[in-house]
Amino acid sequence: MKSKRRSVLVLALAAGLPLLAQAEITFRHAVTGETLDFEYAKAGGDTEAFKKFKETGKNPYNGDKAVIEKGHSLYLSACSGCHGHEAEGKIGPGLADDYWTYPRGTMDVGLFEILYGGANGSMGPQYVNLNTDEMLQIMAWIRSAYKGDPAKAEWLK
Ligand code: HEC
Repeated sequence: MKSKRRSVLVLALAAGLPLLAQAEITFRHAVTGETLDFEYAKAGGDTEAFKKFKETGKNPYNGDKAVIEKGHSLYLSACSGCHGHEAEGKIGPGLADDYWTYPRGTMDVGLFEILYGGANGSMGPQYVNLNTDEMLQIMAWIRSAYKGDPAKAEWLK
């Protein structure tokens, strides 16, 4: 009886492990908290980097100079009109300082959630114009432009 129970336990563990290994982060809308659905994502963004990001919550492009450069030119066409050329703020808030309307933006998961799903007012969801890999590229540039207190840079922790 005892050994039978043990083997049931072993089986349950063996069945559960692959599920744990595949566990992905749940991304939520910055305002409503609803789960973000990647079904609507623009094609081409499901790269190795994005797959890694979904598992770790860390943007693998942070600190990558070549990507940051691409991210900057994407930022200039998609974001700078509202957030300023150096992310100093304009219609929308500055993105290079340590003040966040949505404090989850100090983490890569939170910043991605705001980009993908949008926030309030004219901060619309960006999945229409940008694929998820391009969002990671822009995020890497935003982090590189950071001028706030290094102690508040949660994405580095
Ligand atoms: C049409 C204008 C507009 C465009 C284009 C736009 N934003 Fe915004 N953004 C805003 C506004 C307005 C807010 C404030 C919304 C709020 O408080 O809910 C905002 C908020 C944000 C926030 C939250 C900041 C905080 O302090 O928590 C982030 C991050 C952000 N935008 C990133 C981006 C990025 C990156 C792009 C380009 C991919 C972009 N936005 C494009 C207008 C815009």
